[in-house]
Amino acid sequence: MKQGIVLYRSKYGSTRKYAGWLQEALGYDCEEASGAALRRASAYDTVVFCGAVYASGIKGLALLKKNMRVLRGKRLAVLCVGASPYNEAAFTALRQRHFGGELESVPVYYARGAWDTDAMTAVDRTLCNMLKKSLAKRDPATYEPWMQALMSVQDGKADWTEKGYLAPLIAYCTAAKD
Ligand SMILES: Cc1cc2nc3c(=O)[nH]c(=O)nc-3n(C[C@H](O)[C@H](O)[C@H](O)COP(=O)(O)O)c2cc1C
Repeated sequence: MKQGIVLYRSKYGSTRKYAGWLQEALGYDCEEASGAALRRASAYDTVVFCGAVYASGIKGLALLKKNMRVLRGKRLAVLCVGASPYNEAAFTALRQRHFGGELESVPVYYARGAWDTDAMTAVDRTLCNMLKKSLAKRDPATYEPWMQALMSVQDGKADWTEKGYLAPLIAYCTAAKD
């Protein structure tokens, strides 16, 4: 049995960057998540799935859920990457919304991503500009944490990625398996 693999789903690169850092730190294989990659993951002891957060959903999570059968008995962990600073209530809500059933006992970690309006697709850019305009009319006290982050971005660019976010996940992966 091979040691471990990092699978990721990223749109603009920050989740891919974290997957690369995990690969470096853990010596695991690493590849973009797909049905075939998930089936190949059955040859590994540990599987780390990294997915970017979009509109409160997690990229690739549906694919992971669909393939849970082949991952039974593995040490599995999920890393979510979003623009929001870590926030206990928002993270708990994300966990409750997406990690029921077979994923209930899977440890979930969080890391902060990046923001680059110029790199976005026209659709995402338009969506974010519309959201910013409507948020500008609202009381900031009603913003969700990621909306606060979006409103705080200067000149359309921010990079909050930091290797330090990965420490708890790396500790989990390197702890002896019981
Ligand atoms: C259309 C859109 C929706 C987003 N929705 C959220 C969100 O709900 N929560 C959050 O924390 N970040 C959100 N983000 C920010 C992304 O999660 C962040 O930029 C992350 O770094 C993207 O990862 P990637 O570079 O791997 O694609 C959103 C970004 C875009 C463009």
